[in-house]
Amino acid sequence: LPDRVVLWTRLVPDPLAPDGGMAPETFLVQWEVAHDERFRRVAANGEVVAGPEHAHAVHVDAKGLEPDREYFYRFIAADEASPTGRTRTAPARGASPRRLRAAIASCQNYEHGYYAAHGHLAEEDLDVVLWLGDYIYENGPGSSALRQHEGPEVMDLAAYRRRYATYKSDPELQAAHHAHPWVVTWDDHEVDNNYADDRADRDALLPEVHRQRRAAAYKAWWEHQPVRLPAPSGPDYRIYRRFRFGDLVAAHVLDTRQYRTDQPCAAASDIGTYCAEIDSPEATLLGPDQREWLFRGLDRSRTRWDLVAQQVMFAPTSFSPDLANPIFNLDQWDGYRVEQRALRDALARGPRNAIVLTGDIHSSWVNDILDSSADPGAPDARPVATEIVGTSITSIFPFADVLELAATAQPTIQYVDGRNHGYVVLDVTRDALRADFRSVSDVADPDATIATAARFAVEDRNPGAQEA
Ligand SMILES: [Fe+2]
Repeated sequence: LPDRVVLWTRLVPDPLAPDGGMAPETFLVQWEVAHDERFRRVAANGEVVAGPEHAHAVHVDAKGLEPDREYFYRFIAADEASPTGRTRTAPARGASPRRLRAAIASCQNYEHGYYAAHGHLAEEDLDVVLWLGDYIYENGPGSSALRQHEGPEVMDLAAYRRRYATYKSDPELQAAHHAHPWVVTWDDHEVDNNYADDRADRDALLPEVHRQRRAAAYKAWWEHQPVRLPAPSGPDYRIYRRFRFGDLVAAHVLDTRQYRTDQPCAAASDIGTYCAEIDSPEATLLGPDQREWLFRGLDRSRTRWDLVAQQVMFAPTSFSPDLANPIFNLDQWDGYRVEQRALRDALARGPRNAIVLTGDIHSSWVNDILDSSADPGAPDARPVATEIVGTSITSIFPFADVLELAATAQPTIQYVDGRNHGYVVLDVTRDALRADFRSVSDVADPDATIATAARFAVEDRNPGAQEA
């Protein structure tokens, strides 16, 4: 926000111990926010209690700061100071900032690679990182030769805390948090692969049991993320929210897991052919309340750019080049086409410039979004918005060949790359939004280098991305 930032830390001397190595007592933690890295000009400070009920995690909402400024912060507990973090306040609501630099990132399966991408993310010149989900993966140890999860599939609060501790112990991930403020949402793996509302991935798990698991997962998520949200007190927890960066950017941050109807067509995997359920008016990814909130926000938009930061691929896409017999990913918006069409029209109607930002699929895409009246195959179809799909930090993508072939038949797909991993840097100015797809040389190499694999730009009031 313009006048405050959320600072996060957790006291955890022994990250993988059940209690993090902490006595079941409360501790006082001091915090400081300063204009300079040496803490000579302190802007705000205070004291906060860390208790066992929240795994000795603390969230400080440091208030009274000035808009659009860089700050440095640290925590002090038991005479020990934390590493120094850098953060930024947002521009004032009435301000007209010239630019915003943001990164989108998602999907950091610990077993699939090292976090060299985070080390490079930390070095980028950014105002904010938008995390689009899959911060942890819930599964037990796999056969990865690189590194492995610390225990079996996580089901309860203690296990979710340990899983976050495994991920957060990574020094490159820590560096990316120390370097930038993050805006965080979740996808499925923060709880359970492909869960939908109260339906678990595995049918064997009863809805009541899944809801208990969801409550544990949501609590551990809150404990480990720098979010300005109250602690959850059960399996229902609103995290969708909106951020404003002056009159330049509004970011609508969605939750497409908690309120969705089940994936259609009773398919055994994400992938399937058409069934009538895809076009059911009851099918929803957003749920009625979030949908109304989002559509109202888009209709009332007065910012130059509206970013819809969410999880699953939005633009209609076939995974087969035979468009007469399309193959859908039913976990994506293609499984929920009535709502997909309504959002396509809302993107066309309200915002001056609408960009959908997507994670989940571990591959990079640039897609034209057409309004619901347009035929995607028509050569004169004009986009109304653009979707930018960031790849994963590490999580693997086994379908590069299939998708690269399918894309050749679909004129709305401007770019697809299933081979690279990393993140996307968005450079948003009043005239254009530029997206740099930043890719690491090898997720299996802790010292991987970074390079720009592709660059696209969308001009103000000219929807549709062009290679730049
Ligand atoms: Fe993922």
